[in-house]
Amino acid sequence: MAAEFGISELWDPTVRRDPHGFYDRVRNNGGPVLQIDPTGARFWVIAGHADVLDGLHHPAIGHEVHRHWPGSRQPAPHELSEVARIEARQLISLDPPDHTRLRGLVSSGFTARAVARLEPWIADLADRLVARARRQGHVDGVADLADPVPVNVIAELVGVPESDRSRFRAWSAAIVSGSVDGPAATLEFGAYLDDLAARRRAAPTDDLMTQLVALEEQGDRLDRDELVALVQLLLVAGQETTVDLIVNGIRLLLTHPEQWQAVRDDPTLAAAVVEETLRFRGPVEIVPPRFAFRDVEIAGGRIPAFDRVGLSLWGANRDPAVFDRPHVFDIHRPDVRKHIAFGHGIHFCLGAHLARLESRIMFERIARNLPDLRLAVDPAELEGFRLHQDGLPLRVGPRDL
Ligand code: HEM
Repeated sequence: MAAEFGISELWDPTVRRDPHGFYDRVRNNGGPVLQIDPTGARFWVIAGHADVLDGLHHPAIGHEVHRHWPGSRQPAPHELSEVARIEARQLISLDPPDHTRLRGLVSSGFTARAVARLEPWIADLADRLVARARRQGHVDGVADLADPVPVNVIAELVGVPESDRSRFRAWSAAIVSGSVDGPAATLEFGAYLDDLAARRRAAPTDDLMTQLVALEEQGDRLDRDELVALVQLLLVAGQETTVDLIVNGIRLLLTHPEQWQAVRDDPTLAAAVVEETLRFRGPVEIVPPRFAFRDVEIAGGRIPAFDRVGLSLWGANRDPAVFDRPHVFDIHRPDVRKHIAFGHGIHFCLGAHLARLESRIMFERIARNLPDLRLAVDPAELEGFRLHQDGLPLRVGPRDL
């Protein structure tokens, strides 16, 4: 029997508090569920594991809807501002063939082997953060442990020199937060990257910027806006997501004492903590919305042409058809690798190896060197906590601190 749904239930404060109940109902509905999003657009939600995979691989579901709209015309680059041009070239919002070309150019910098090179550097950063936390006693899981990791790792990967790191972090914060300063930061950041590119052209090294400059020089393979768009996307896609994963991993361990004990006894379980945190509470609830390019039959129903499609990773990763006891956090579960927290198909997260490496190292170092880490608030208080705004108050050291 089809369930009843409020028309904008997905954004309702009660559903925000417990979205999984909503996704359970969507999954059992026997068809995609129509919602009206905050912009007033029609938005079809899909939440079953197999159905979300169908959506991610569907040839008639994608981003560049203007190509399919009869009579529509894409603005030429000279008709757009620099900020709009850069946004229009983001890998994550392109379809084939442009997506295929760009992804092919940059993917070699993000393989497991390529990012493994960064392991000693990340381990050193993690050691410094953990040592500082130990000295402080009072620790904010967001500001002191998670937040500094991804932005510094991306800077290191790209090849931003130590002396420019604080400027890089400031632009990153403005761009990532989507604040009013975002467009100005995009322009300044673009000018900075032009300068860094010029330096690498003159004196190549082994960083990502050197690789990108080499591609740019091979003629019409990667243009300047695409280069800036890519580095900007690494920040937008890689900063908050990784912070979210690290903080939620810590929170989930500290609220599941037996599993926290197991990881302290055997820190090699850190990799399992990464995967189960991704499944149970991944950083991405719904992948960036797509459009149906024509009427599409999917998930046992039909989505009309040009409507938006919302593929829920949170729904897919709690599907009882795939995961035993899906609403239980269990780092020992054997089926965890079936999660799709990094998406699937052509847009599968480019930074997945890097995010896994960073968070695994952090969990390992915390388990080894902060074994007395604990929450500084009642776990019940965390229910209403917004980790990014409120932080995650923690303690280390003697109990009477
Ligand atoms: C794409 C999740 C970290 C770079 C994606 C997608 C997801 C995702 C679900 C697919 C979006 C879609 O299908 O539309 C995550 C999670 C992360 C994480 C959960 C951390 C735990 C990172 C990092 C980087 C990164 C660290 C880079 C430094 C990208 C890029 C794309 C992407 C460039 C676009 C790929 C494409 O369109 O081909 N990510 N991400 N991500 N991610 Fe990540």
